[in-house]
Amino acid sequence: MSILICGGAGYIGSHVVLELIKKNYDIVVIDNLSNGHKEFLQKDARFYEGDIRDEKLVEKIIHDEKIDSVVHFAAFSLVGESMINPAKYYDNNVLATFSLLNSLRKNNVKKIIFSSTAAVYGEPQSIPITEDNPVNPINPYGETKITIEKMLHWFDKAYGIKYVALRYFNVAGADESGQIGEAHNPETHLIPIILKAVRDNKTIKIFGNDYPTPDGTCIRDYIHVTDLAAAHILALEKLSDQSKIYNLGNNKGLSVMEIVKAAEIVTGKKINYEIAPRRVGDPAILIASSEKIKNELGWQPKFCTPEKIISSAWNWHKNH
Ligand code: UFG
Repeated sequence: MSILICGGAGYIGSHVVLELIKKNYDIVVIDNLSNGHKEFLQKDARFYEGDIRDEKLVEKIIHDEKIDSVVHFAAFSLVGESMINPAKYYDNNVLATFSLLNSLRKNNVKKIIFSSTAAVYGEPQSIPITEDNPVNPINPYGETKITIEKMLHWFDKAYGIKYVALRYFNVAGADESGQIGEAHNPETHLIPIILKAVRDNKTIKIFGNDYPTPDGTCIRDYIHVTDLAAAHILALEKLSDQSKIYNLGNNKGLSVMEIVKAAEIVTGKKINYEIAPRRVGDPAILIASSEKIKNELGWQPKFCTPEKIISSAWNWHKNH
């Protein structure tokens, strides 16, 4: 039996594919390459270029490749863009996932691991954020992800499709081999923006230094993409008759300024920055509690320090 990875040519998807292949799983990737990179595909994974909305194609893959489980990354994920163009997000995230789930339902595929996000919480009620914090997204991106989580809930109840929804906090870093890394177009994420600025001798903008935090800049919880990939494999291996939702972060908050300082240590270069106005939709502090996945699945992150996360990203960025 094989695992279908939807969006397996993207940043996180390609890291999960790599880890699954290391563990000798039989992997099939579908990606429409709207954000994915052909060069991130592994030769041991069979690749279909196409859209998960193409039910004929997805059903053919399920049959031909004997798919029994799915890991679903295919989505748009830019918070700012989702505020300006929510229709694009409902279409690509909610409607496309609806098609995918229909294909699974009709073809008796009963297991899915879904990429969700900390953006479902909006402004959290308490820190660190546990999974029972109320969900209250403050942008359409987070709204599409919670809509899909709810769809999964009802597809489980009615059709027995079991799922694990993984709510990622700030994913960063790259595989230690240096063959794949984080490359979005446009790039909006802090760590790759800093590293590109170092490489190209540019100045970064820090969005706001008047937040209620010790140094005034936003605090986030950064998690290494390889640790995140390991969580997906555990979720796949341990998913049984009960669907689950887990946060994924490091239980550790770092301010934008602290990330800048850590990047200076890693790269040995001074980082030029200017203070810019706050970015719309940015909560001041997001820190995960990941105790649930540690306790229930035995997840143990290995690359927890900002230096480890940033140096792995730098290893990729300096050559790309
Ligand atoms: N930041 C800057 N300058 C930049 C880019 C980012 O100061 O050029 C700041 C942001 O304002 C924020 C922090 O760096 O305070 C981290 O920003 P990112 O864009 O790297 O990440 P986000 O926290 O905005 O986004 C992440 C995920 C989203 C998810 C969101 C939940 O990437 O998918 O967390 O809030 F929706």
